[in-house]
Amino acid sequence: MTILNGLSLVVNPGESLAILGASGCGKSTLLGLLAGLDSASAGEIELDGQRIDNLDEDQRARVRRGAVGFVFQNFQLLPALTALENVMLPLELANEPRAREEALLLLERVGLGQRDDHYPRHLSGGEQQRVAIARAFASRPRVLFADEPTGNLDPATGERVIELLFELNAEQGTTLILVTHDSHLARRCQRRLELREGTLRPLT
Ligand SMILES: Nc1ncnc2c1ncn2[C@@H]1O[C@H](COP(=O)(O)OP(=O)(O)O)[C@@H](O)[C@H]1O
Ligand SMILES: [Mg+2]
Repeated sequence: MTILNGLSLVVNPGESLAILGASGCGKSTLLGLLAGLDSASAGEIELDGQRIDNLDEDQRARVRRGAVGFVFQNFQLLPALTALENVMLPLELANEPRAREEALLLLERVGLGQRDDHYPRHLSGGEQQRVAIARAFASRPRVLFADEPTGNLDPATGERVIELLFELNAEQGTTLILVTHDSHLARRCQRRLELREGTLRPLT
């Protein structure tokens, strides 16, 4: 089955882009392809200035490591690690000596400073989502992909996460590529595109 077809997209450094579309139309599939998590059957993809569609999984992982943060729709936290350890992991992999301090600061920024020693199964969906966001920020990615990052949050917490995303965008020039149903979040982005029938069209 073909999910995406005839799709062309260029996202500039520092840009913020919202991708909208009905459930099942392929938004998560598209995000996974752009981030180098999956590979397509045809087409060219360039990430952070590098062709990735002709790379194998290990090579794509290497490109991602330097460039990409990803907030999964289902969070994908490691169940055997605490919230703090989940956020520390990318910092430790990057040999960051202050991994613990940085991870704690990030958890505080998403409002979870008091939950650092909790395991994912003891956190609500919204709390897990915020840990996933803190983890994605930890590696200071040049491109942050987030799949419905406010989907499980109450309006106040959602607002806080939106502020955090755009702080990162402003402070570090992080490119934001967001899949969202949240009209407030979509409006904050410079550009809105709708995925329909396999392709992207501008939304006003
Ligand atoms: N791993 C998979 N194997 C087979 N089909 C899949 C898989 N993941 C998603 N799909 C299908 O691909 C389509 C697009 O899914 P998805 O990208 O998750 O949509 P969205 O994120 O827009 O809701 C759907 O029809 C879905 O059922
Ligand atoms: Mg999805």
